[in-house]
Amino acid sequence: MTDFIFQAPTKIVFGKGTENQVGQLCKEQGATKVLVHFGGQSAKKSGLLDRVCASLEKAGLPYVTLGGVVPNPRLSLVYEGIELCRKEGVDFLLPVGGGSVIDSAKAIGYGLANDFDVWDLYDHKHTATACAPIGAVLTLAAAGSEMSDSSVITKEEGGIKRGYNSDLCRCKFAVMNPELTYTLPPYQTACGATDIMMHVMERYLVNEDTMTLTDSMSEALIRTVMENASILLKEPENYKARAEIMWASSLAHNGLMNCGGPKGDWACHQLEHELGGMFDVAHGAGLAAVWGSWARYVYQEKPQRFAQFANRIFGIACQGDPKETALKGIEAMEEFYRSIGMPVNVRELGCELTEEQIATLAEKCCFGGRTIGQFRVLRQEDIREIYRMAKG
Ligand code: NZQ
Ligand code: ZN
Repeated sequence: MTDFIFQAPTKIVFGKGTENQVGQLCKEQGATKVLVHFGGQSAKKSGLLDRVCASLEKAGLPYVTLGGVVPNPRLSLVYEGIELCRKEGVDFLLPVGGGSVIDSAKAIGYGLANDFDVWDLYDHKHTATACAPIGAVLTLAAAGSEMSDSSVITKEEGGIKRGYNSDLCRCKFAVMNPELTYTLPPYQTACGATDIMMHVMERYLVNEDTMTLTDSMSEALIRTVMENASILLKEPENYKARAEIMWASSLAHNGLMNCGGPKGDWACHQLEHELGGMFDVAHGAGLAAVWGSWARYVYQEKPQRFAQFANRIFGIACQGDPKETALKGIEAMEEFYRSIGMPVNVRELGCELTEEQIATLAEKCCFGGRTIGQFRVLRQEDIREIYRMAKG
């Protein structure tokens, strides 16, 4: 096993009505002026935004608002947010939304606390030295940004989607009321479940030793999400199922699931980020569309690991050749994706990939001459082949 540092400094306030505590929570963090950051319509329509603002007012905290964050959050709004916060003297960021809104707030936080162009972080030209403090009100269980060290931003020019990781951006608190996710359309619920599972699978399907305890927690988390995602498609207002998935989203991506093992493979995330940058697809759906092709391309490096996955997630018997068990597990996962309405190739995702686009995606994925993946290290030609297999 590998030595590790586990740091999860986010205070979780979980349960019904918790959004009404947000003013007090910001105050505890020393906020004197808050940016309430949000997306399109959902938080306004549900009345959540009004409740959040009322809580800030009750705590005597002045605030400004900035909405308009879109999925695959854009750099231009991040710049706008930085400017607004500087002008207004904002010292605390309060994203109200899903991963895109939280990530946009993280980028604004970096921009406020550093004096270089914030995109230089995502372009890996600079390292952050600080980030303005952030607290989140979560409305979508998916990305895990409420506890993660990561943020992902898309630069409109060139359709470049890039992530930046640093403990500096971890939320000080996250308010998590499962009822706030009742209004999610089934497609977003399914995308969220897929992303949560993938955050664990990226860490689980690795080519080095892991800890038994971490493996067991990962398996339980994946099975829990599968079970409850299926319930939610029939009963979107099932509180318990929403709660199970919401907590899973945070635990899947706060670092707990790679304790004692390598940091993860992450090739599917990199493959998806290029699809997101080029076609603006939903992140979870993009992951489902490439996962099976990635898995079939790499599993022979260590089929036993995929066979273990097949056995413990789907109960597929491990007899004879582990390669056969591995392949059955990959098929079973794709079957699950289909059952919740997720695509299993890029055509089903709604994109017809041309050979030219495949070459561009692979080239962009290898920016700066990098390789991706840990289970099997992938170069540009491998990536091209996986996109071809995933084309559909
Ligand atoms: O804008 P509104 O109207 O709020 O609609 C949003 C959006 O259209 C809607 N939504 C959110 N909460 C809702 C709701 N609709 C109804 N009821 C609610 N309660 O859902 C849509 C998608 O929202 P978004 O925030 O984009 O989804 P998600 O949380 O999946 O975040 C995706 C982004 O996070 C990045 C992804 O790449 C993508 O850009 N990721 C961030 C990570 C991180 N920071 O740790 C890790 C992930 O791997 C991921 O890469
Ligand atoms: Zn993800």
